[in-house]
Amino acid sequence: MRRKLAAGNWKMNGTTAALAEIKAMTEEVTGDIDVLICPPSPLITGAKSVSGDIAIGGQDCHAKPSGAHTGDISAAMLADVGASHVILGHSERRADHDEQDDDVRAKTIAAWEADLIAVVCVGETLAEREAQNTLDIIGGQLAGSIPDGATGLNLVVAYEPVWAIGTGKVPTTDQIGEVHDFIRAKLERRFGAGVGRSVRLLYGGSVKASNADEIFAVSNVDGALVGGASLTAADFNPIIKALNASL
Ligand code: PGA
Repeated sequence: MRRKLAAGNWKMNGTTAALAEIKAMTEEVTGDIDVLICPPSPLITGAKSVSGDIAIGGQDCHAKPSGAHTGDISAAMLADVGASHVILGHSERRADHDEQDDDVRAKTIAAWEADLIAVVCVGETLAEREAQNTLDIIGGQLAGSIPDGATGLNLVVAYEPVWAIGTGKVPTTDQIGEVHDFIRAKLERRFGAGVGRSVRLLYGGSVKASNADEIFAVSNVDGALVGGASLTAADFNPIIKALNASL
C-alpha cells in the first residue's frame, strides 16, 4: 500500500512570519496520509520547531557532500537541520540553473547518501506536448534522472507538466492518468513490480482545493506537489482534506 502524500513546495516564498501557516496546517493532519512542506532552506529549522507530524524538506541540494560551492547546500546539511525529503529536478531548477538529467541523478544519489527521500520531478513543456512527445520526454527524464537503487522508501516521483505550473492550466484527468500509468509501467519494468508499485507518484501543476478531488481520483495519483496553494493553511488544508477523503 502506498501512503498518500500531500507535498507543498514554497519555492522562494516566505519568511519566519510564514511559520504560523505550517503550525495551522498541523491541525488538518490526521496521520492517515503523509504531509510534507518544503520551505526555503533558511526556514527549515524554524519549520521543524512547529511542524508536528508534517515532514519538512528542502527544494534542492548539491551533488557533493561539502566543498567550495558558494551558495549551495548539501544533502547532509538538510538532514542535519531535520529535513527528511528534498525536491530534485524541479522544472524551475532545470530552466533557471540549466540542470540536466545527469545533475538530477547525481543529486538524487547525494540525497540517498544523506538518508533523504528524493522527490524527483519530471514534466514536458507545452511545445513538447503539442508535438506529441510527452511520453518520450517523460521516459527520458525518468531514465536519466533516477539512479539505480530506487525503492518506495527513498523515491517519490512528481509529474509536473511545465505548462501547468503556476499558470492555472491543468491537464485533463485522462492526460494525467496516461502519464502516471506510463511512469508506473516504466518504474515496474526497470526496478521490478514490487519496487515499481511502491514508489509514490505525485501530480503537480496548479493543484488547488477546487480541482484536488478529481485529480486525486485518477489512477496512480498518490498525492500532489503543490506550489502556490501550499503557502497558506487556508489554501493547503482543504487539499490535505481532499487527499484524506480520497482514501
Ligand atoms: P503550482 O506549482 O502549484 O504553483 O502550479 C507546482 C510546483 O511547481 O511544484
